[in-house]
Amino acid sequence: MQTTLEKTYTDEALIDPSKRATIDRILQENKHLEGATMVVLNGIQESIGYISSEMQVYIANNLGEPVSRIHGVVSFYSFFTTTPRGKHTIKFCIGTACYVAGIEQIIEKAKQILGIEPGETTEDGLITLELCRCVGACSQAPVIVVDEDVQGRVKPNRFPKTIQDIKSQEG
Ligand code: FES
Repeated sequence: MQTTLEKTYTDEALIDPSKRATIDRILQENKHLEGATMVVLNGIQESIGYISSEMQVYIANNLGEPVSRIHGVVSFYSFFTTTPRGKHTIKFCIGTACYVAGIEQIIEKAKQILGIEPGETTEDGLITLELCRCVGACSQAPVIVVDEDVQGRVKPNRFPKTIQDIKSQEG
């Protein structure tokens, strides 16, 4: 017989006991700190890999914050994601130099090939597309970052090869 009224969650991170314990530990360790929201969100993004809407409500309730505030922070900073990141990440630099050098055309190409928008992950969980700020390689604009690898002077017609390379790494 159920003795406590536990909310029914659908998010894997809140159902899985070890992931839930990690979230609870991060909340407990930091909730009393000034600026707790940022510390908690960073910790959860790093340990769990994403912060879904359901997790945002859970965090808000635990911190005694309005859900709208947590949601505002998560959507403002691009390093927070609401779904798990793919195995590989391609970031497109949208700093001024890269923008001027045509990063938009490369983003369009990526969207065409993969059928997803920046901030989304392919259905097979292989690739996540993200936008990022200047990575300090402006002289090589337009720049993308594939996992940790900074690639400059990227051309839209060479981009399919980038995707191919990632796929072939997976065998
Ligand atoms: S603006 Fe893209 S690397 Fe600086």
